[in-house]
Amino acid sequence: MSIIKEYSKNEKKIPRHIAIIMDGNGRWAQKRGKIRILGHKEGFKAVKKTVKFALQNKIKVLTLYTFSTENQKRPKLEIIALLELFLFALKNEIQHLNKYNICLKVIGDLTYFDKELQLYIYNAERMTLNNNGLILNIAANYGGKWDIVEGVKKILSDVQKGILCISQIKEEIFSQYLSTNNLLPVDLVIRTGGEKRISNFLLWQIAYSELYFTDVLWPDFNAFEFKNAINYFSTRKRRFGGNF
Ligand code: IPE
Ligand code: IPE
Ligand code: MG
Repeated sequence: MSIIKEYSKNEKKIPRHIAIIMDGNGRWAQKRGKIRILGHKEGFKAVKKTVKFALQNKIKVLTLYTFSTENQKRPKLEIIALLELFLFALKNEIQHLNKYNICLKVIGDLTYFDKELQLYIYNAERMTLNNNGLILNIAANYGGKWDIVEGVKKILSDVQKGILCISQIKEEIFSQYLSTNNLLPVDLVIRTGGEKRISNFLLWQIAYSELYFTDVLWPDFNAFEFKNAINYFSTRKRRFGGNF
């Protein structure tokens, strides 16, 4: 009920939490006869622009899907390049993010990353913890199924410790055991690259999200595309199962 109430107040219908499946880097490069890794590098430029648009449009939370648990199946060299790019981005952008009052969060199974990357993530999150501008939530080695299984493990552990009774477990309580705890509900999911699927991104969290699919490949995503997605969202009548 709380989501409905907050929404009826929100006249402008600007999504507060946008989550993006940034797909199409490989095809962008291949179309130009380049190696896929160059597509990921170009994709990073689109990430920087997107953070800027999110700030300009006063979006409160931006969740970006950078690497899925299934992306571990990719060739080793591509994975290494992606992880290097992630580390490079953290090293180079964190001061900038901090200056713009952005709070950085990383969700996903971080144990997959080497110690250096884990430390940079930890420090970046700590440095920007008290920033109250945009929340930039990076889903890295993330899987919607992984998130739910981790939530189940944590909730079971609290039941075992006697912190929680089984009868107290309700949807709202379970939500708090997911990696997105404390974030606003996801209003809009954008997927670039033409595929119309979720690819194990947020699952529980998108039960009532609006979904926007575009054929634009991620490196070509720009302010115009961003506006199109927001305009699409603003035309949706969200009912949340009700009939009002
Ligand atoms: C998305 O682009 C980025 C990651 C999955 C890391 P892809 O690498 O999936 O690019 P396409 O879909 O093959 O074009
Ligand atoms: C989804 O893209 C994952 C990210 C964008 C990080 P994929 O390219 O991995 O998805 P599939 O394989 O087309 O479903
Ligand atoms: Mg892809």
